[in-house]
Amino acid sequence: MYTKLLTKYALGGNTLVNRICLPPMAVWAATESGHVTDYILQHYSGVQGVGLAIVEATAVSPEGRLAKLQLGAWSDDHIPGLKQLATAIKATGALPGIQIHHAGRSTNREKTFGAELVAPSAVTTGQDIPMALTIAGIESIVEKYATAAARVVEAGFKVIELHGAHGYLISQFLSPTSNLRNDEYGGTLENRARFALEVFTAVKKVVGSKALVSMRLGVADSVEGGLHLGDGVQVARWLETAGADLLHISSGIGGAPQQLRLDHDDFSPLLHLAATVKQHVRIPVIGVGSIRKPDQAERALELGMADIIAVGRGILADPLWAAKAASQPASISLCRGCRPCGHFKHPFSCPARQ
Ligand SMILES: Cc1cc2nc3c(=O)[nH]c(=O)nc-3n(C[C@H](O)[C@H](O)[C@H](O)COP(=O)(O)O)c2cc1C
Ligand code: SF4
Repeated sequence: MYTKLLTKYALGGNTLVNRICLPPMAVWAATESGHVTDYILQHYSGVQGVGLAIVEATAVSPEGRLAKLQLGAWSDDHIPGLKQLATAIKATGALPGIQIHHAGRSTNREKTFGAELVAPSAVTTGQDIPMALTIAGIESIVEKYATAAARVVEAGFKVIELHGAHGYLISQFLSPTSNLRNDEYGGTLENRARFALEVFTAVKKVVGSKALVSMRLGVADSVEGGLHLGDGVQVARWLETAGADLLHISSGIGGAPQQLRLDHDDFSPLLHLAATVKQHVRIPVIGVGSIRKPDQAERALELGMADIIAVGRGILADPLWAAKAASQPASISLCRGCRPCGHFKHPFSCPARQ
């Protein structure tokens, strides 16, 4: 029935069983040292039928943690658990991907267990004031991304997604509101994008042909003076030139600009961001944003808005969303769009799962 959504898709030497992606969504259920738990294994094993599953934001270093129970890949000790996780995802038939992440200023010292926050500039989000990174500090974080990438590849992940969206460290470098530097990492767009491209290049180098490297790129901020969509598209093009295998398009600081919403359709502003980027790059683009039903995903593909459709809360609400899309779409338990999504802290409070 859904001829585009449910058709196999060739992605960089891999064949996805369909074009449905589980986007990274943190369940905050790792140990305090960032290790995989049985709960996490069960959570990802329960998602059935997707072509690509991307594990939630996984910290590349302890001071980059966004939550106390966030997954980590900053130590070799994390590899065995991550290997179990990649294996569990493969067993569902999905290609296993993982997002690697550094929160930068968007955390606090309680969540980092006392470690000082770092950011492009000492501009606070209202939590603790971050320390502006020195050049040596930037080089050290680039290296941490690369070693974390090597670990997740060793664990068996086949898509490495760099978190470059939602106001976290890479997004902070891109945005003129959080990057006030006047050295080679600040000022012009080229300078603000330098960190993103250096992280990408360092990761690509260690990963080689063992996995695909992607970025979840926040192409537009919705704060005054923030990153414009035109500039975000340019960064997407630079990433393509640098060898990105895939791009997962989302928002930067403050979510997607609402004015992108078009009155004549029911696609979210986020999906429109992906559609815009898709017009300017040749590599595959993942689009995301408020897809609740398979019909919507099929239509977005028909319209050429993206190559792969990520279904976030839709799959939290019904982990069998993708499997049911193929057999009994009417039986999908639909996400109710609660604000905020209870899955962040209270998975069992999701009304769609009652
Ligand atoms: C519970 C929850 C956790 C999330 N965690 C992450 C994350 O770890 N990394 C990330 O890039 N986005 C994260 N997101 C954003 C989702 O990946 C997705 O972009 C967003 O929910 C929009 O898609 P949807 O409308 O299909 O839910 C999270 C969203 C939710 C609801
Ligand atoms: S808690 Fe609400 S928003 Fe989150 S998945 Fe469930 S129904 Fe959707």
